[in-house]
Amino acid sequence: MFKPAIPTLQKGTFHIAHWGCQMNVYDAMRLSDLMVSHGYVESSPENASVIILITCAVRAKAEDKVFNQILSWQHAGIVRDDTLIALGGCVGAELGQALIKENPRLNIVFSPRTAHRLPALIEKFKATGRNLVDVEAQGLEKFDFLPLESAPALSSFVTIMEGCSNKCTYCIVPYTRGPEISRPVKDILTEARHCLEHGAREIHLLGQNVNSFCGEDTDGTTASFASLLYEVAALPGIERLRFTTSNPMDFTDDIVTAIRDLEVIADHVHVPIQSGSNRILELMHRRYTRDAYLRLTDRLYAARDGISLSSDFIVGFPGENEQDFEDTLDIVRRVHFDQSFSFIYSKRPGTPAAALPDETPLEVKKERLYRLQELLDTSARECTEALVGSVQHCLVEGISRKDAGELKARASNNHVVVFEGSPELIGTMVKVRITESIAHTLRGEAVYED
Ligand code: SAH
Ligand code: SF4
Ligand code: F3S
Repeated sequence: MFKPAIPTLQKGTFHIAHWGCQMNVYDAMRLSDLMVSHGYVESSPENASVIILITCAVRAKAEDKVFNQILSWQHAGIVRDDTLIALGGCVGAELGQALIKENPRLNIVFSPRTAHRLPALIEKFKATGRNLVDVEAQGLEKFDFLPLESAPALSSFVTIMEGCSNKCTYCIVPYTRGPEISRPVKDILTEARHCLEHGAREIHLLGQNVNSFCGEDTDGTTASFASLLYEVAALPGIERLRFTTSNPMDFTDDIVTAIRDLEVIADHVHVPIQSGSNRILELMHRRYTRDAYLRLTDRLYAARDGISLSSDFIVGFPGENEQDFEDTLDIVRRVHFDQSFSFIYSKRPGTPAAALPDETPLEVKKERLYRLQELLDTSARECTEALVGSVQHCLVEGISRKDAGELKARASNNHVVVFEGSPELIGTMVKVRITESIAHTLRGEAVYED
């Protein structure tokens, strides 16, 4: 990680739009700092000389979003003839050269692993006028070139590993972000410490499967995710620690013990199950069974009172029959999931599942998704309503969008809480007694102690 000198010569303006997961949010923020350190000024899309798109390829609809955005900016005259367009993120890695061939309006294509090269690619494009594709890079090179964040968020993301080697059969991520590789603990601690020294109160560790973290520890041995949790939890100034995502496959006892022992860890874990059918889990190559998943949720509930669990579900995986789907509904009836995500299976080119026969009509898949979402909604509503009357430790994030007299905060269990209070409380932890639950939002009143 280098500390850039502040350049005096302004090179142009840029705007970054991003889609997809939190790892893209992290990449976009770090790339923004990199551009600023190279003399660019962040602007609205209308005023940008460089438009940067950080894209997601996880489902076909996610992929379409970027092309629709470019078209709508072109129609609105926001993208002018001389606007440089750079497309990065997972679609860049997935389609590379083909993107430029199909859409000559794109000037630069890069990938999650080559984001740090963007300023140099822009210079090269300006010098030659030739469109460029640069999507290949070794390991963790990116992190050596991204500056430490200039203005970290109250809740700061810190990526602890790149890529994924699990190759779940439906998933494109291993092909876009490359094989899994963990960052050294020293670099993670340096970055987290920097964020905390510059205003962050919460650290949110990111990886496609944080449980399999195996970075080099400060003493030269290999760290586990549990040992990393203890080290980050001991950093001065940390008030809360979150992590995403945990594959149930290797959610080991030492991680559950860390959740039990470290109060600073938030009361919320996201554990994507995808399907409740053992047959489908095997076809997905998820490497756990529904019983193993239920044992894990029992262990988590036992480790921490009031822990909130959320999940991801895929409906209509090739070959899913009514009984498989019923097995998924059965899991939702047994585990009290809080706000979760569910999607219809999307065929991703080049993934093993793309070759499986998929005969279930779309209408049936839509109907299953609807039934699942009804059940998930009921479960989430019950979790929310059960919080009325409780006192929640909340990190005050800002002013409520709906009412300027109210503050918006996030409880440890990841619920949004609004309450009346003075803006001076922004950035602090406040105890809030929950008085009401409306849809998924909680309303409460601050509890001030003498
Ligand atoms: N690494 C995480 C998931 C990251 S992708 C994990 O293993 O749990 C985020 C979510 O997108 C997944 O949990 C899955 O529910 C969904 N997803 C991934 N590929 C998909 C596909 N081809 N079709 C539909 N949903 C998909
Ligand atoms: Fe995709 Fe599976 Fe890796 Fe998650 S663990 S990113 S679903 S391949
Ligand atoms: Fe999407 Fe890539 Fe994240 S495909 S979900 S942006 S890792």
